[in-house]
Amino acid sequence: MDREKFIKLVSAGTLSSSAMMAVTACATYRYVEARHIGKQLEVSKSSFGEDTFVLTRNPGSNAPIYLGKHTDGTYSALSLECTHRQCTVNPTGKTFTCPCHGSRYDQEGRILEGPARRDLFSFSVTTDADTIYIQLPT
Ligand code: FES
Repeated sequence: MDREKFIKLVSAGTLSSSAMMAVTACATYRYVEARHIGKQLEVSKSSFGEDTFVLTRNPGSNAPIYLGKHTDGTYSALSLECTHRQCTVNPTGKTFTCPCHGSRYDQEGRILEGPARRDLFSFSVTTDADTIYIQLPT
C-alpha cells in the first residue's frame, strides 16, 4: 500500500469513528429546554416523557445539568462538571464517569473513584404539579 492510500484509509477511519461517537452521544442523552428566570431554571415535568433523566443547559458552566426523575416521584439535579479539572462527566448507567482522567461518581454524585476528590455539585430542587425548579448557586 502506498503512502497516499494509507493516509486516506486512516483519515476515513478516524472520521467514521468521530461520526459514530457524535451519533451515539446524540442518541444517548436528550436535552430539554429550561426557562431561566432570575436565579432558577424551570423545566416542565412533561418534557421527560418516558425517560428517567434528561439534560439541560447550565448557564453557569459548559457542562450540562443532569435532571433525574426517581421512582418515588422526586427529582434531583447534578452538575455534570467533573470536580477534578472540569471535564464533562457522562451518565453511565447508575454511575457517572469522567472521560478525561477516569473519576467515577455514584448516581447521587458522590465520588467513588479519583483523581477527583469532591462530589458533583447538587442543585436544590423544588417542584409543583407541572414544573421542576432548579435553584442556581449565587
Ligand atoms: Fe475528570 Fe480529571 S477532569 S477526572
